[in-house]
Amino acid sequence: MKLKAISALCIALTTLSTVAQTHKKLPYLNPALSIERRVEDLLKRMTLGEKIAQLNLRPYYVSQDSSVRAAIRAGRIGALLKANGVALNLSLQREAIESSRLGIPLIFHEDVIHGYRTITPIPLAESCSWDRVLVGQSAALAAREAASAGIQLTYAPMVDISNDPRWGRIMETSGEDAFLCSQMAIARVKGFQGESGYTNETIMACVKHFAGYGALLAGRDYLGADFSLRDLQERYLPPFQAAIDAGAGSVMCSYLAYNGEPVTMSRFMNTDILRGQMGFTGLLMTDWCTLTHAVSMGAVADGRQSALRGMLSGMEMDMSSSQYITYLEELVREKKVSEKLIDKAVANALRVKFELGLFDDPYKYFDLAREQRTLLSAESRQIARQMAISSMVLLKNNARTLPLAKERSIALVGPFASAKGHLMGSWTMMGRAEEVESVSEGFQAIKKDVLVADCPISSIGEDQIKAILDVVSVSDVAVVCLGEDANLIGEAVSTAKIEIPAAQIKLLKAVRAKAKRVVVVLFNGRPLVLDQILANCDALLEAWYPGTMGGSAVAQLIMGESVPSGKLTQTFPRHSGQIPLAYNFRRTFSRVNHADLNHGPQFPFGYGLSYTDFEYGDPTVSADSLPIGQGVHVRIKIRNAGGYKAREVVQLYIRDEVATIIPREKELKAFEIIELEPGQEKEVLFDLDSESFAMFDSRIKRVIEPGIFKIMVGTNSADVKSVDFKYY
Ligand code: GLC
Repeated sequence: MKLKAISALCIALTTLSTVAQTHKKLPYLNPALSIERRVEDLLKRMTLGEKIAQLNLRPYYVSQDSSVRAAIRAGRIGALLKANGVALNLSLQREAIESSRLGIPLIFHEDVIHGYRTITPIPLAESCSWDRVLVGQSAALAAREAASAGIQLTYAPMVDISNDPRWGRIMETSGEDAFLCSQMAIARVKGFQGESGYTNETIMACVKHFAGYGALLAGRDYLGADFSLRDLQERYLPPFQAAIDAGAGSVMCSYLAYNGEPVTMSRFMNTDILRGQMGFTGLLMTDWCTLTHAVSMGAVADGRQSALRGMLSGMEMDMSSSQYITYLEELVREKKVSEKLIDKAVANALRVKFELGLFDDPYKYFDLAREQRTLLSAESRQIARQMAISSMVLLKNNARTLPLAKERSIALVGPFASAKGHLMGSWTMMGRAEEVESVSEGFQAIKKDVLVADCPISSIGEDQIKAILDVVSVSDVAVVCLGEDANLIGEAVSTAKIEIPAAQIKLLKAVRAKAKRVVVVLFNGRPLVLDQILANCDALLEAWYPGTMGGSAVAQLIMGESVPSGKLTQTFPRHSGQIPLAYNFRRTFSRVNHADLNHGPQFPFGYGLSYTDFEYGDPTVSADSLPIGQGVHVRIKIRNAGGYKAREVVQLYIRDEVATIIPREKELKAFEIIELEPGQEKEVLFDLDSESFAMFDSRIKRVIEPGIFKIMVGTNSADVKSVDFKYY
């Protein structure tokens, strides 16, 4: 009997290996061949329907599990989003590999915006670190965790730019400046994708939303705005170009329009600009249902027209609208769309899967043990904590209230004193509230006797105020944790007011009247109007939504175990009536300000205090004037004149004194992070190439015009020292 079983097993194994070998013998499954050769071979084997399926990106809902599996087996789905976790994704992948005709692997997409299970600070917060290395590590951490959970592509980095804090998605941006946003985009693309090819710990980036989404009106999500070709070239495209040059594998379109045409079907944007001007060769996909939204916008009559215009514009993958899978086959049969154009899009969709190694090992991302040991690992938590510490911005510190000495009695109060879920902000992926370290937990790890009194975010009862005042009255200092409800930030959530609830201001005033010293820690996802908070505190730390490790990050900064180094990347207005407010408006001839409001921002771009004092020398240039095209060195000495070892973000801005296109007030062109011991002095060298002095002329062509440039170096965009430089 045993002999029979063994021989049956041998026959089965031989058959399997023969099938496998035969399978492997097919060129598209032969890893020894080039990706191009394999794509070419596979395309020849695919039916038109199977090709179009590769352009069909479908959301996964548990309630539709059986219909999704049936569609996978029928070869009708190329990619899934919102399916995550090894157990589920492995089972769905098996359906594709073992039950579909050609065994083309699925790819799993997700919105891993600032962490997968270990949630790092929101991207706007991370950008306030100005730390390319740390932001890259944060993205790499997100990639490791997402990849371990069966995800291969993330819809990040988001590189939109806005000057409107009313927009809920400003929390996803990296601030108002195109140069800084570009630097963050490069760091994140390399962090997600790795720098030496994809592994099972890296994922493909999808840079979004191409392009100009942040130009929307009144901060109201999806409310399209017209912006100029100059805006497009000067502000909105550079971060995409930086991400593409860094190797981003895919791009997602914007919900809005350019020049009155929905971007999702704009040939100018999707082909002329993205492919022609920017040289992007990866995969272009829509945002959620944009091919259907175009019908609601009145840009096309129906889904069939939308599919036609989208495909003809160069839009390749259809996220969740099903217009491509519904209409493209008939459009090809009617010769409205060439199969050659379909093949071009399908080739890009297949290339992504080949590059990620999914054809060579469709199960490489599905290891249950690896998932369990990777998610929320000690390494993840350490990186997330450091990212949170470096993202926070000290906005006020009168009489050196901070850091607090350990021996002082502390009352830790307010709606965010023990909050957990809110600290993750929006786009929280698989982050779990119970795994977030609250501020009170962070403090208790350093100082056991801190007194804690919580309250709700908006409706704070008299009894709760009394309980808070009771602990405040017996403490040396009150640390008041205030902020905005995390449900008021993120997609499709814009607010007309940008302030914390009145109940919190009432609480703060009551504490101010009772406490000896007041420190406010603020948790928010957008610039807020802070006048009432500033008037009722001695110190103010902007903590943003700091993520899973936010509690210990706040405690370490407040107690002086770490020193704040964050710098604002979004201007803070004094009043929402000032919106839009920016550090780099184009120059004008008069400062017409609001008659009823002191002009200028509450805090300018690049602003952030330290516990120490940095003294800046005068900047010098390697040459006062040079022929156009030559680079110039800028040097400046900075000394730590205070008592703390600390980091400083040294910022360099340029102002073109005269140009044929009205120049901006100033523009960020370089920055360096330095760390100085007390008393230490360091010379910072900026090596500026001529591109730093370039502009778009009246024909939107990149030129450098001769003339004088003011080079400004400082601790923020308003506090700078300058030196003139001339190009001739
Ligand atoms: C959303 C967002 C986009 C996100 C996508 C998938 O509507 O605009 O940023 O990646 O749909 O969730």
